Amino acid sequence: MDITKIIMDLRVTSSQNAPLYLQLANGLAAKIQNFTLAIGTKLPPERELAKLLNVSRTTVINAYRLLEDQGLISTKIGSGSYVNEVSQTKQPNGAMPWEQLFTPQYTSPLSSILRTLIAPHTFDEAISFAAGMPDPAFYPLYIMEKALPSSKSHLADADFGYISTEGYLPLKQSLAKWQTEVGIHATPEQYLIVSGSQQGLYLIVKAFIAPRDYVIVESPTYLGAIQSFENSGAHILTLPPSDRLNFELLEDYLIRYRPKLMYTIPTFQNPTGRVMSLQDRKKLIQLAAKYRLVIVEDDPYSLLYYEQEPPASLKSLDTYGGIIALGTFSKTVFPGLRTGWITAAQQVIDRLAQEKQHIDLHSNNLSQIILHIFLEGGYLTNHLSLIRTEYKKRRDAMVHALRHYCNDYLEFTIPEGGFYIWCKVKPPISVTELIRQSAVVGVTFVPGIAFYTTGTRSNEIRLCFVTHKEDLIKEGIRRLGKILTSGAANGTQTIHTAGRPMI
Ligand SMILES: Cc1ncc(COP(=O)(O)O)c(C=O)c1O
Repeated sequence: MDITKIIMDLRVTSSQNAPLYLQLANGLAAKIQNFTLAIGTKLPPERELAKLLNVSRTTVINAYRLLEDQGLISTKIGSGSYVNEVSQTKQPNGAMPWEQLFTPQYTSPLSSILRTLIAPHTFDEAISFAAGMPDPAFYPLYIMEKALPSSKSHLADADFGYISTEGYLPLKQSLAKWQTEVGIHATPEQYLIVSGSQQGLYLIVKAFIAPRDYVIVESPTYLGAIQSFENSGAHILTLPPSDRLNFELLEDYLIRYRPKLMYTIPTFQNPTGRVMSLQDRKKLIQLAAKYRLVIVEDDPYSLLYYEQEPPASLKSLDTYGGIIALGTFSKTVFPGLRTGWITAAQQVIDRLAQEKQHIDLHSNNLSQIILHIFLEGGYLTNHLSLIRTEYKKRRDAMVHALRHYCNDYLEFTIPEGGFYIWCKVKPPISVTELIRQSAVVGVTFVPGIAFYTTGTRSNEIRLCFVTHKEDLIKEGIRRLGKILTSGAANGTQTIHTAGRPMI
């Protein structure tokens, strides 16, 4: 078993309150107690582990000493440190030792934080601004009721058998045709249909990233991307929050670390709502071309603009063929059809299709057929203009309510598109506490910490404004304002949510 892979995900950082040796000892103890580190496993020599985790050798010596005192490991002089047998009470006789059988897994502290914070609660009229969910009232169900039955005669038996991994050909054709309208000129063969862009990201990580490769992300960024990269064992280089890309830092990363790829959401970014300017897009492509950097452009939101159209996508400006574009129908049509796409160079599509074959052979035919009919029948244009109008009203309603109820407490810029308002909490209030109290009065949202790599601090929150009608938005923000007012008045704890908040 590759023990370095198991140990590499231990996070030992000075941004946490506990001393480094204690963080390391606790991390190792947890892995011994849950059998991820099996009995008899030899732990890495102190010097090696210190290098791996970027800590001093003394830190490792002290951690090993503590584990020895706790009876969890034994040191054999001249041989090394070994994991001891854990008390039988942890693993009743005859029970399946699942934890020993699973492959090593990187468990981000974010997963449990989010599960706890966004878990459904008992409040009857909870208003959720947490998930990036379109309003189901706008799902174009008519496509199932009218268009699908009337196109029955056009469907061949083969459409319901196994199809090629790359996807349902008519959908790829209608997609390729429709994408020319947004300046992307690719052949149907340069498309891979995936089960949501999240699967697309997974495939890209599988095809490109080996443990300890470097990847660049904006900070903050989409939680699903952070988790995919962290899970791959990649080193994540972040471009700190800023209104513009920091090209100096980016070039420095490119020279020093030779990263495999950069992941970016240039248009109505999740969570900040920011838009990369056309000038920066062109400059980024120039730099990427110079260093042969692969750019993964994740673009679920660009069609949802509420002011003017955003700048052209990176993919449409691609001069060197290195951009892999991810698209999805989740935010515009139906998230539950789990259909997205990747557009990239032919060689990339071929390799990603091989990876996809291992997972599900191909994405679901019925979803692809429905979306093909939706595109081919020209329904998308009207649908987009409907949701743009409605979501704009909702964005304005949330902005108005925030100004009315939370003006002294939250700072934000108005997004020109997408789903989210990204707010900075002005008073020194713990975001974790804010979320707890808000859940009690029936309003939920996502803490900013979820959008940063592990260990980063944040006093921000993300509010999704598209899911509810204006009156519910107003009510939700009123509840939030009430909590903020009482929290600020009480002088609630002055700690911002740190890397591993106690919840
Ligand atoms: C930036 C970004 N990428 C990908 C996804 C996942 O989308 P899908 O439903 O297509 O998997 C989301 C969903 O919130 C997102 O915001």
